[in-house]
Amino acid sequence: MNTSMSRRRALGLGGAGAAAVLLGTGAWSAAGAYAAPKSGGPFTLGVASGDPAPDGVVLWTRLATDPFAVDGKGGMPATPVRVEYEVALDERFRAVVRRGSVVATPELGHSVHPEIHGLAPDHEYYYRFRVGGEISPVGRTRTMPPLLSNPRELNFAFASCQAWQDGYFTAYDHMAEEDLDFVVHLGDYIYESGVGTNKRGVVTDPRFHTEAMDLARYRLQYSLYKVEAPLQNAHARHPFITTFDDHEVEDNWAGDISKVDTEPDQDPAVFRQRRAAAFQAMYENLPLRRAQMPTGPDIRINRRLHYGRLADLTMLDTRQFRDDQPCGDGDGVDCTDRLDPNRTILGGPQREWLLDGFSRSRARWQILGNQCPIGQTDRDPGPALDVWYDPWDGYVADRDRVLAAAQDRGVRNLVVITGDRHQNYAWDLKRDYADPASPTVGAEFVGTSITSGADGADMPQDGVNFLAANPHMKFFNGQRGYVRVNVNRERWQSDYRVLPYVTQPGAPVSTRASYVVEDRVPGVQEA
Ligand SMILES: [Fe+2]
Repeated sequence: MNTSMSRRRALGLGGAGAAAVLLGTGAWSAAGAYAAPKSGGPFTLGVASGDPAPDGVVLWTRLATDPFAVDGKGGMPATPVRVEYEVALDERFRAVVRRGSVVATPELGHSVHPEIHGLAPDHEYYYRFRVGGEISPVGRTRTMPPLLSNPRELNFAFASCQAWQDGYFTAYDHMAEEDLDFVVHLGDYIYESGVGTNKRGVVTDPRFHTEAMDLARYRLQYSLYKVEAPLQNAHARHPFITTFDDHEVEDNWAGDISKVDTEPDQDPAVFRQRRAAAFQAMYENLPLRRAQMPTGPDIRINRRLHYGRLADLTMLDTRQFRDDQPCGDGDGVDCTDRLDPNRTILGGPQREWLLDGFSRSRARWQILGNQCPIGQTDRDPGPALDVWYDPWDGYVADRDRVLAAAQDRGVRNLVVITGDRHQNYAWDLKRDYADPASPTVGAEFVGTSITSGADGADMPQDGVNFLAANPHMKFFNGQRGYVRVNVNRERWQSDYRVLPYVTQPGAPVSTRASYVVEDRVPGVQEA
């Protein structure tokens, strides 16, 4: 609250904020800080907020009295249910500024996504839901600063890759304690695979042994993740800005192409039905705005958010519009298809939208929320170039076009934040990786996983010395965690927050390293 008040004073806002309309103390019963939802009540999956704007946010909850009901319907009746919500200036709801209600329908898994408008910019709010006599846990959120303001600083964290079967979500308990404006999630929020014997023990319930293929099963998979207390804590504490990678649907999917040839979805028409189920379950379980509601197998997840004039955040979709991976989906040294100038990872329209944003943006920091690494990753410290084909290394023409355009169109500071790799990197983005003298045009911070890959280690993995093989790489770490970022007008700082283990609960967190980018100095430097 202190931070919020001092920030508001810095912006010259009045007491309750220009847009606040006090509705008096709530008639709802007592509430306080976030408390775990009651099992058997309708709020077993927690609460969340997302996609902050200067005037509001989207709130989220999904009603499920029995989140593991076999039909995926959460124990809810086949009828609509009215859900009330309140937004207040304080966590005891003495100063309520918005009240309303929305209808949770069985068609959308009894999820609700009320979009709140008319709030004050750069301000902290609390929210909760009510159904009948049941009141949800309390969430906290923040609005963005005014579009044309020049905020002094931005604090956020980014995360990705949370395979439930690989460990505990302890990192989210630590993230909930950070002082952040928002959290960016870069994908692999769920993994579609079946769960049996795993790093947490054994799941005996056979419903979880099969891979998610239809809506009921994807919904169950989300329930498995969403009942986790650390994940609920982080959502209740910070607004999230999310995109997806491959595992929200299927490992390594590309456009209409399924990647597991033992499954019945080799026909693109069948795979598109699966994609529709996966996107719907994702929408039902995340704080996404109506603009991100899928239409069958299609979704618009790429979008832009603005933190005043300090930073633009462009969220990308590198799955839905990509060409098939070249030369199979693996890695190697002799794939020339990956250099084909006609191949794309963004698709033409999204690429033009991205580059158009480069031309128009007046933000000091241009942040790309990206899924798989854009920087070249050589796996061979010797003369050979051995790369993976699924990330941007398989789509070199698009990488070159995007990085060249950032420089040619005068992007002041390009910083890409990335997930997927289950490793922490800090490295320079090069205009042309084939030319050692090529200029550095930006920075990329690759964040490790929340759990995927289990405990990990603070050293090169799989026998590959990535630092030796990639001269543009300044930092490597293979532990679990997330990246905390502080951005001001002069510099960006990434703190790599790591946990020593995730296969047991309760791990502490520490900052393994910090890397910075200085204004108008492309590339990363040790802090
Ligand atoms: Fe992943």
